Amino acid sequence: MAQPDCPLCGGTGWKTVERVAEEEKMTRGSWLKPIEGTDTLKRVWAVPCDCTGKDRSARAMGRARIPTRYEHCDFDNFDTKLYDIENGPEFPKWNHGLEQAKVVTEAFARDYPAGPDTGLLLMGPCGAGKTHLGVAALRQIVLRGHTGLFYDYRELLKEIQGSYNPESQTSELGVLEPVLTADVLLLDDLGSSKPSPWALETVGHILNSRYNERRITLLTTNYLDTSGPTPMPASRKTQLPSGQAVSAAREDSLTDRLGMRIRSRLYEMCRTIELFAPDYRREVRQAGRMRS
Ligand SMILES: Nc1ncnc2c1ncn2[C@@H]1O[C@H](COP(=O)(O)OP(=O)(O)O)[C@@H](O)[C@H]1O
Ligand SMILES: [Mg+2]
Ligand SMILES: [Zn+2]
Repeated sequence: MAQPDCPLCGGTGWKTVERVAEEEKMTRGSWLKPIEGTDTLKRVWAVPCDCTGKDRSARAMGRARIPTRYEHCDFDNFDTKLYDIENGPEFPKWNHGLEQAKVVTEAFARDYPAGPDTGLLLMGPCGAGKTHLGVAALRQIVLRGHTGLFYDYRELLKEIQGSYNPESQTSELGVLEPVLTADVLLLDDLGSSKPSPWALETVGHILNSRYNERRITLLTTNYLDTSGPTPMPASRKTQLPSGQAVSAAREDSLTDRLGMRIRSRLYEMCRTIELFAPDYRREVRQAGRMRS
């Protein structure tokens, strides 16, 4: 909403910008108007007034569909000194890993759209903070005026599957259109369900066309490139403050879940960030023992 007492637009939410007609190639949404006291025409556009700006970013955030449980996620509240270094020999490494992941993701968001990478792949066990960092990046980019979209991988597959209708492709396109065209897409929990071959085809199509159009895709996944126990950078003996052993078993690798073609596309389009931290929810919220 516009501010009712705005001196620029008088509360309408619109202001005009003008340019001399000849200089301007784009004419859509504009009209010509003589410059007072002369024969010269100027071209006038109506644009949203500055006083609606806050609102516009709020709407853009709304369209990004970030789930409520991740709304708080920001770089400022991503803690990288979680582990009390006295409590275990591996803890400084984990702190350092979190710090690195945050630095790289934050730089990526800051440099967008000028940066060299077309995507980020945040890999690591459950609760390590992957979605938190992904959402923080998405938010920052959307708040600067780009379009962004959060999609849970499983949800997306379900929606595509649900909308698929051999007779009419329109509803399928309705689901896909924003996914294909958002400046930045965060696809969360990649691999979390094992899709049918044609659904996988669709995922491949989404990633390919975004890559070809140089649109940014941020992805998170619990699946790694090796199957079996998660290779935490910790000695086998290390225990977390909660008493849990450090490893998260995963039967499949990311390639098992997505196939070779998509995995190698991801290598091409993404910078990989590994986040090997224990489950934040369990370790930090419940144990409450870390950090002095
Ligand atoms: N380093 C961190 N600092 C602050 N909050 C964190 C951190 N890591 C995780 N969290 C919080 O813990 C919860 C789980 O993290 P999340 O990013 O969903 O993990 P993942 O996506 O890796 O499974 C979220 O609410 C998130 O905000
Ligand atoms: Mg997650
Ligand atoms: Zn105004």
